[in-house]
Amino acid sequence: MEFLSDQGNTSAAVIGMGYVGSPIAAVLAEQGVNVVGIDVDPELVAGLARRRCAFSEPGLAELLCDGLDSGRLSVSTDYDLVAGVDVVIISVGTPVRGTELVDDYLRSACAELAKRLRRGQLVILKSTVPPGTTRDVVVPLLEESGLVAGKDFGLAFCPERLSEGHALRELRTFPIIVGGLCRESAAAAARFWRRTIGVEIISCESPESAETVKLASNWWIDHNIAMANELAKLCGALDVDVLEVISAANTMPKGSGNVNILLPSVGVGGSCLTKDPWMVWRAARDRDVQLNTIGAAREVNDSMPGYTVDLIVEELAKSGRRPDGAKIAVLGVAFKNNTGDLRATPALPVVTMLREAGAEVAVFDPLADPGEVKKLFDLVPVQTAREALAGADCIAVLAWHDEFTEIDFVALRDLVAPACVIVDGRAYYPRSTIEHLRRHGYAYRGIGR
Ligand SMILES: NC(=O)c1ccc[n+]([C@@H]2O[C@H](COP(=O)([O-])OP(=O)(O)OC[C@H]3O[C@@H](n4cnc5c(N)ncnc54)[C@H](O)[C@@H]3O)[C@@H](O)[C@H]2O)c1
Repeated sequence: MEFLSDQGNTSAAVIGMGYVGSPIAAVLAEQGVNVVGIDVDPELVAGLARRRCAFSEPGLAELLCDGLDSGRLSVSTDYDLVAGVDVVIISVGTPVRGTELVDDYLRSACAELAKRLRRGQLVILKSTVPPGTTRDVVVPLLEESGLVAGKDFGLAFCPERLSEGHALRELRTFPIIVGGLCRESAAAAARFWRRTIGVEIISCESPESAETVKLASNWWIDHNIAMANELAKLCGALDVDVLEVISAANTMPKGSGNVNILLPSVGVGGSCLTKDPWMVWRAARDRDVQLNTIGAAREVNDSMPGYTVDLIVEELAKSGRRPDGAKIAVLGVAFKNNTGDLRATPALPVVTMLREAGAEVAVFDPLADPGEVKKLFDLVPVQTAREALAGADCIAVLAWHDEFTEIDFVALRDLVAPACVIVDGRAYYPRSTIEHLRRHGYAYRGIGR
């Protein structure tokens, strides 16, 4: 049977309207698809319906509003709405506990979907899952409907590869991987993405191959960053600038591109790189394959918050101060630049260690939800950079959001302590900025610089 015929306007349901589902739904609506976003979280759905976007993602709130205003996008908790669409996209969370996938959200989404599945529909799984999940978990659950996968309904795994902070641009431009359960499913999924987003399609032979592609990418990223972090530790000891080393090393052609060492930082957080490598590790172990690089990379990346705290303590000591009694202004507590996402943020261990060492910590993050910050960090965030910086012995930049570029540290020099050090965990200032700051009485220390 052909899934997703060529007739009429395409309609889609996005199940799971989180960090991934919301931008997918918004971009599909932008491309003229009639989209219904379904989520089990009534607060999230009510917020979206009131044009309140819970995610600090550049351009997303506006695009969601455009979709809702045009009538092409609607949001609901009502699963019955999936019955009326051509394509159902599943983008629910797939966390990991230890090394084991928590598939409760995926299972319950599939169970609800099975009750409404129609002949001819195409189901696309976007959530990141261990190899084999589409075939071994999703197929049997959806076949509870009485329909047969690949015969009565199409099924493909198309991993989501966006990164927060660039989600819309990446969704509109990144090639889409398609791993169909059968040839017809793969063809229908490719047709859907070509017809809607119009990007390049990369076909994989099977869902298992596509599932592994996603995990291989995040394994590579986490591993590459671990190498960058260790290189930074070495450069710090050598007193050379790690960014100079990386940008020069990256000019060397290798394979189909160049050497491409990523950037060191205060640590790796977020909901993907902290868990996806463990999915790979576990998938390998379940097949009697021992992977050694994963544990090593995770350990290195997890060491970076402690390393950053050590830098802060060392810098304070240079002017005879100790962490207890010092004031530390933390700029940015999200897990990386230009997002408000606090999941597994390395800022949390940094702030916790500093407070345990007796420091007074003021945190400022204009993108993170203040209520969430308060809950996670057990402190009330300040509302302006000025408040954070007042009397600060150290300014710790843990996430560098674009709007921080408006902070004029030189103009605020009299506000901070006479000896004030900027510890740069993620701003990557050019040398000229560092020299400018030093000329105006700031000390500067970066990760590996
Ligand atoms: N966040 C990222 O940058 C990113 C990037 C690529 C891939 N991914 C993957 O995409 C998936 C989703 O990640 P996310 O960050 O959007 O997670 P998220 O937690 O932000 O969103 C998941 C949403 O699914 C909803 N949900 C849970 N169970 C449901 C159910 N049974 N029916 C309907 N809705 C349900 C939740 O309420 C939540 O709103 C994960 O597998 C993740 O690994 C995430």
